[in-house]
Amino acid sequence: MKRLNSRLQQDGAPLELILLIRTLLAGCKEISFRVSQGALAGVLGSTLSENVQGETQKKLDVISNQILKDTLAESGYVKAISSEEEDDVVPCNPEGKYLVSFDPLDGSSNTEINSLIGTIFSITHAPQWMEPDDPSAFLQPGTQIVAAGYVLYGPSTMLAMTTGRGTHLYTLDKTHGGFLVTQANIQMPKDTAEFSINASNQRHWEAPIQNYVSDLIAGTEGPRQKDFNMRWVAAMVGDIHRVLCRGGIFAYPFDKRNPKMPGKLRLLYEANPMAFLVEQAGGAASTGHGRIMEVMPTEIHQRVPVIIGSENEVNTCLEYYQK
Ligand code: AHG
Ligand code: MN
Ligand code: MN
Ligand code: MN
Repeated sequence: MKRLNSRLQQDGAPLELILLIRTLLAGCKEISFRVSQGALAGVLGSTLSENVQGETQKKLDVISNQILKDTLAESGYVKAISSEEEDDVVPCNPEGKYLVSFDPLDGSSNTEINSLIGTIFSITHAPQWMEPDDPSAFLQPGTQIVAAGYVLYGPSTMLAMTTGRGTHLYTLDKTHGGFLVTQANIQMPKDTAEFSINASNQRHWEAPIQNYVSDLIAGTEGPRQKDFNMRWVAAMVGDIHRVLCRGGIFAYPFDKRNPKMPGKLRLLYEANPMAFLVEQAGGAASTGHGRIMEVMPTEIHQRVPVIIGSENEVNTCLEYYQK
């Protein structure tokens, strides 16, 4: 099985990017270890603090954030980072060539139930003009990302990553400590009979997505004339992993209860990296009104509605928005 280094070299990644990715993954391996220790390491439960998004931070949110922040800041490759758990951009090495945005722990509500969680990241070039504490340099559309992925802390620890030359799945070999390619160039099915959405919010959605989901649920008796199944892990990382592996459609739409929030998921460190991975695997990723990766960010914690998955099904969903 191919090792991470040789896969990245084959895909033409520059040495400094490879070294940065290895550093980032060293942090993820430490998170993986802490996660696997669970209550034995005292890492479960909540803190008394809130993040900038108004969510109560879990202990693992804070620990994972600290591990990644320290690892990346010490590496020298990174000019600045932005994180779900940091109000502002964190300056690192003024000479660093890259910017890293991450969700240190996705699916925090799953920590207490020993269910799927992960880390999501994206890497862009750091503009030379940028001061290390300047958030505006992070406001690049997803099309500028040079590498993105997630590490899934599941029954096995897996990495999905792309540098724009296909999406590859890796599995952490816990005996030797390296990520090995277990599926190169994954290609998702174009069609699917599986959808993933928090249906308890249905009454708060806008008409297009309400109608689309109603038609899925109507099955063979509705206009789709086909039965659909539903899955919801409550961690985007788990839901997108399933979608990458066997196809599907995942959506987190705008919710009328929060008119000021365009969606729940964050563009820089949730929607964009997943959109890049899925597009590179032959899928599609839209806000309902355009390609996620072309959204021009205005703020580091900006949220977007997301519709991600098998290409034909995403396009069918988008027809409801065009009606
Ligand atoms: P995070 O734990 O990083 O804050 O992200 C949680 C997100 C995402 O992973 C998941 O898809 C969604 O929240 C779950 O939302 P519901 O609470 O509506 O199930
Ligand atoms: Mn959170
Ligand atoms: Mn998240
Ligand atoms: Mn998170």
